[in-house]
Amino acid sequence: MNKSTALIQNPVDDYALKRHHNFQHSLSHHPLLQLEELKKLALRSPKIRFHSAMLKRTQPFDTARELQTGMTIEETLNNIEASGSFVYLMEVEKDPLYRDLIQTIMANIEKNVHRHDSKMCKPKAWIFITSPGGVTPYHRDFNANYFFQIKGQKTLWLWDHTDREIVGQEEDEAFHGVHSLAKTLYTDEKMKKAVKYEMGPSSGAFFSYTDPHLVENGSEEVSISLSITFLTPEDYQVKRIHKINQLLRKVGIIPSDIGKSKLLNQMKLGLHWLVKHTIYLKSPDWEDA
Ligand SMILES: [Fe+2]
Repeated sequence: MNKSTALIQNPVDDYALKRHHNFQHSLSHHPLLQLEELKKLALRSPKIRFHSAMLKRTQPFDTARELQTGMTIEETLNNIEASGSFVYLMEVEKDPLYRDLIQTIMANIEKNVHRHDSKMCKPKAWIFITSPGGVTPYHRDFNANYFFQIKGQKTLWLWDHTDREIVGQEEDEAFHGVHSLAKTLYTDEKMKKAVKYEMGPSSGAFFSYTDPHLVENGSEEVSISLSITFLTPEDYQVKRIHKINQLLRKVGIIPSDIGKSKLLNQMKLGLHWLVKHTIYLKSPDWEDA
């Protein structure tokens, strides 16, 4: 691909990296992102998961991957129009054939991240292939996400992760502190505050770090999407503050919320460093935080 091609058009606005927004892109006709080529990638990929996509909005996200269809990956992909499946490929950036394309897209995104005085950490590429009518239930992820719709239609519902009517303080503490989605649950009430993005080929959406989302495929066509995810140093700080809050609550101290005091946040970041480098030195749960 010509590196001067504008992969993402109009990505910069006042909200970049802080709030979800949509954008346009020019990736949909790229030969490596067509279904037949992606089937070959899926069959050689060491990092692939697949399960039923015939889920309800209310399905707890953690349990979705347990819902198997009984089909092999070959059967699933060869019959993707009717297999009712969700297939996702992880670490696409490591595949020799896809490396250049993904690095070009990541470099494009990184330029935007730098424009906003931040850094891109742990960039990863994912590809999602979903049967018509598939649903990805309400959930959150530990990253920011540039989501490129390549083929088919999707309705994407997004919420602001800083809205305390949607994400409670204790939910944030469980999510960041012990990586639990147990309190991250869909309700009809939350739909009133959802922002709806109708996605088709060449549309994209940016999810800010840990924004809740729910994805519903169109009923007519197979969908292909590409996600580039990453964290920024500011995202790591948010994670660390919630993690310390979770620990404080565990020992009986009611912690102040993250938005209340910059000084307290700084103190919690110091405490995090101390705890991580002393008591929890060998715990993998603290390695990434
Ligand atoms: Fe997600």
